[in-house]
Amino acid sequence: QKLSIIGMPMDLGQMRRGVDMGPSAIRYAGVNERLKSLFEEIHDQGDIAIGRPEVQVDPESNLRNLDLIAEKTEKLAEEVDNAIEAGSFPLVLGGDHSIAIGTLAGVSKHYTNLGVIWYDAHGDLNTAETSPSGNIHGMPLAVSLGIGHSLLTNVGGYGPKVKPENIVIIGARSLDEGERELIKEKGIKVYTMHEIDRLGMTKVMEESITYLKERNTDGVHLSLDLDGLDPHDAPGVGTPVIGGISYRESHLAMEMLAEAQIITSAEFVEVNPILDDKNKTATVAVALMGSLFGEKLL
Ligand code: ARG
Ligand code: MN
Ligand code: MN
Ligand code: MN
Repeated sequence: QKLSIIGMPMDLGQMRRGVDMGPSAIRYAGVNERLKSLFEEIHDQGDIAIGRPEVQVDPESNLRNLDLIAEKTEKLAEEVDNAIEAGSFPLVLGGDHSIAIGTLAGVSKHYTNLGVIWYDAHGDLNTAETSPSGNIHGMPLAVSLGIGHSLLTNVGGYGPKVKPENIVIIGARSLDEGERELIKEKGIKVYTMHEIDRLGMTKVMEESITYLKERNTDGVHLSLDLDGLDPHDAPGVGTPVIGGISYRESHLAMEMLAEAQIITSAEFVEVNPILDDKNKTATVAVALMGSLFGEKLL
């Protein structure tokens, strides 16, 4: 198996600077070295060019950086598409979570029934109408369901990218009103921190894997927002929420995904080295990647 690493240094989906340095921080934490023995070949494709565009708010929708995010995620979608076509596993390094719009646009066309695991403190199911912030990083999962501004839902030239019944959200503990309504309306499977505490991560992952298999998914994308972890273990994120998933539980989750062999693409997002403690969060991200890709102690 080959791995393609694609950096997406985009911070346009939210207001805190520094998440554009996520890919550098993750590379500095040794991603290539760590995964070297787990793949036949690793192709680090470098970073997608984002530049330093000026912030612009779309006057009609009030969405911050709408046009730019549509344009840049389109580029990411192409890179991801090319990696898959070349027979590589695409691993995308963020960047804020709005990049998932592009990742999923590049991934989903290769599957007829894609599953998605959204590992996150948040639902990222807002629209321009329900968003409390106007930040597009709070919207990518809704966009991938085909709900949201058409400039975003049409990235990749098709949509929707995923069906609501093929999504599992893990780690949720901060949901806005409109997101709760959408979850209920669409019947999206959610393991909040309550279920993780109550059932334990083992059961949560067993159930999630079984659920996605029973849905007959032919691929599963892992979208891992580092703020899904507790800020104690992953402090370098723009929107931390206390009471999150531990480092150990996250390793277990990744190991169980490796064992189940269901993950066909992945992204690690929201790493912000400016807000971090000596690159701890990028280091955690790299360690979790090791487990996800089958690293074994013995
Ligand atoms: N729900 C909040 C919003 O829409 C926070 C979203 C945080 N999203 C993230 N990918 N960190 O603004
Ligand atoms: Mn193609
Ligand atoms: Mn989040
Ligand atoms: Mn997120």
